[in-house]
Amino acid sequence: MADVKIQISENGPYVVEGAIDLFDHEGNPVEVPGRKAFLCRCGGSTNKPFCDGTHSKIGFQGARRAVSEAEGRQ
Ligand code: FES
Repeated sequence: MADVKIQISENGPYVVEGAIDLFDHEGNPVEVPGRKAFLCRCGGSTNKPFCDGTHSKIGFQGARRAVSEAEGRQ
């Protein structure tokens, strides 16, 4: 069993659980309170890398759904 679990939520953030070591683009540690983090994948959060709920306001659709709809499948 992996030490970290990453769950892709439907049209929302990556949910990361476990012993999380998170670093910014310069290698500086980013504090993660607890053992669970919600990481933005819509690009709209004002609190990156964390999700702030903006995905709901902007109607973000995860890649798999967006591709399916663009190709006419659902
Ligand atoms: S995934 Fe929630 S704000 Fe981007």
